[in-house]
This record gives sequence, C-alpha cells and structure tokens, in this order.
Amino acid sequence: MKKILSPSVLSSDFVYTADNIRFLEEAGVPWLHLDVMDGMFVPNISFGPPVIESIRKATKMFLDVHLMITEPIRYAEMFRSAGADMLTVHYEACEDLGKTIEKIRSLGMKVGVAVSPDTPANVLDPYIETIDMVLIMSVVPGFGGQSFMPIALDKLAYINELAKEKHPELLIEVDGGVNMKNIEDCAVAGANVLVVGSAIFDNDIKSCAEAFMKKLSEV
Ligand code: DX5
Ligand code: ZN
Repeated sequence: MKKILSPSVLSSDFVYTADNIRFLEEAGVPWLHLDVMDGMFVPNISFGPPVIESIRKATKMFLDVHLMITEPIRYAEMFRSAGADMLTVHYEACEDLGKTIEKIRSLGMKVGVAVSPDTPANVLDPYIETIDMVLIMSVVPGFGGQSFMPIALDKLAYINELAKEKHPELLIEVDGGVNMKNIEDCAVAGANVLVVGSAIFDNDIKSCAEAFMKKLSEV
C-alpha cells in the first residue's frame, strides 16, 4: 500500500496556516492531520470545528481529524459540517465505541480508532472490520514535540498482522514523535499513514515535507 504523509499542524504557528497549507500542497502532501483537544480527555486545549471549517475552505487536502475529546459522538455532526473527511476517536474516550463508529459512518465520514500508549492494541480486535483506520499513538496524547515511544512499533506490527487476515485495506496510522530517523521503522512495522508534526513545522516546511514525501516513496 502507498504510504501517506499526514502533517500535524498542532506545532505550527496558526497565524500562517494558509501559507503553511500551501507549502504542504506544493510538496504534494495528500493529507492534513488536525488535532482536536478538549482539556478533559487530555490536559491541553487546541481548536475545534470553526478552525477546521476555515481550513476546509483553504484546501482540498484530505482532512484527517484526530479527536482527543471525551465522548466524541456528541460532536460528530459538527465536525462533518466543518468539512472533516475522517474522524478518529480514542478507544479510551468512548462509552459505546460501536455506536460512535456507526454514527460517524452514517454521516458519510471515514472512521478511525486510536489507542493511547498504555492501551493494548488487541482491544481493537472486535472493531477491526468495521473501521477504516487504526491510530497507534507513539506519545501520550496532548502535546506535540514529544519523543517517540518504541512500544508503538510492536503495536503497529500486531495490527498489521491482524489486518492481513481480517481487513487488508485497513489504514494504520502512527502519531507522535515521528521523524526522519524513525519513520522507516514505523513503515516497516506496518504503518501506512505517518503523522509528522514538529519535524516538519519546526523547520523549513516545504523542503521538510518534500524530504518526508521522498522518504515515504522509497520505504
Ligand atoms: C499529540 C498529537 C500529535 C502530535 C504530533 O497528541 O496527536 O498529532 O501533535 O506532533 P509531533 O510529530 O511533534 O509529535
Ligand atoms: Zn494527532
């Protein structure tokens, strides 16, 4: 499967969002990863539907929305109206995950489910055939710029094996601390959607995005 780069704008300067999106588009980046935080599920607060609506107007990129919020089912319609293409919810944040998945799908969006570092990947076994993507967190959710936790590689490999048997088209995303040094390990372990935040936005955005795109075309 072709590897997809999904840059996280969390660590970017939001004043320059439209320019930054243009740099990513010029580098041929297909997805944009948008981290929504509510100050409850995670201690940090980021942005919500109005910001996503503005971003939607600025780009045709696939909007990969990572909801780090408690009971995300409450806001599924709002994120659909804002223009999200995919909603990824946390296993730990949903009282009824099955119902949440159904709700997102019924609104015409793709569905992902994320697991935090302390949650074993096999909790997703019963859901694997009903979702489009698994997101393996390689940092504790809440902040950009943290170090990659290698435990994520084992979890990626586990989900990759399960997907071969039960859902060969499954997207497997890794998020947190991904950089030029570990991105290949993530891809080899089974990730096919790679989130990169600070390793792109703390540097020259266009040339870094180009370098990551090139790297992913080679792994
Ligand atoms: C963490 C977020 C990540 C993060 C990625 O809670 O979900 O998307 O911002 O940024 P880096 O690559 O800097 O870890
Ligand atoms: Zn994220």
